[in-house]
Amino acid sequence: MSSSAPIGVFDSGIGGTTVVKELMASLPNERIIYFGDTARVPYGNKSAGTVIMYSRQIVKFLLEKKVKAIVIACNTASALALEALKSELEVPIIGVVKPGAKAAAEVTKSNKIGVIATHATINSGIYEDFLHKTDPDIQVFKKACPLFVPLVEEGWVDDDITRQIIHRYLDDLIEKGIDALVLGCTHYPLLADEIRKVTGDGITLVNPAFECAREFRYLLEENNLLCEIGQTGEHEFYVSDGPKAFAELAGSFLGEGIVKRENVKVYTFENDDSVLKTYQIKRRG
Ligand code: DGL
Repeated sequence: MSSSAPIGVFDSGIGGTTVVKELMASLPNERIIYFGDTARVPYGNKSAGTVIMYSRQIVKFLLEKKVKAIVIACNTASALALEALKSELEVPIIGVVKPGAKAAAEVTKSNKIGVIATHATINSGIYEDFLHKTDPDIQVFKKACPLFVPLVEEGWVDDDITRQIIHRYLDDLIEKGIDALVLGCTHYPLLADEIRKVTGDGITLVNPAFECAREFRYLLEENNLLCEIGQTGEHEFYVSDGPKAFAELAGSFLGEGIVKRENVKVYTFENDDSVLKTYQIKRRG
């Protein structure tokens, strides 16, 4: 595989563009092919089997685009599908969860860490698994915060309602004496300023997207896949539905001009027998 090939990034929808932002900052020479599964979002309340099936379909699409490595930008898909995909792929693949957990373990002094994410990520138990592997004495306090996603997508970031909801979700975590809080969902870093007003400066907010971009750079280097010269050609964005809405919202997440409406293409999944069969066999077994 050539280092000049693009990297593939996918998410359940728009949120993964927060990871794209960090990737662009840390890997400015790379060309990105992004897939947002806007027809089937949210993943955060779906079963592991479904998220694995969707992720397999997206990975197949990205491999057809000849990507050299893949980033799962979605926390939920990282939590539920990364291990399955890793064992099936020849290209390097990384998720956002492990880098986020590693960073949280590094910053905590009280050994009390808060984790906020979707229901599926929280229920998977993956953050505490990684954290306890690093240090079995770490105490993990977790909370699903599903309302943060629509608030961000509605643009209600600097808003009284949002601040009330942040309090409602986080007050009891803060009372536990945590000194690090993992923002374990693609959308949550966009609420970081408001969350910090509630948590105060004594709690470090950990952004898995930032940590993932750093780790991904090492992964490319290790595999001799880091692109040293800037790529010609634009980043490509694919969605499974609603390209106009995606282009508008991605513009507000990523900054104006990076996602142009004409660069957002729609790709609809055919019934893919090979993927569905694997899924059905796994479900029966
Ligand atoms: N991208 C998802 C995540 O990071 C949030 C949205 C969803 O539920 O699909 O977990």
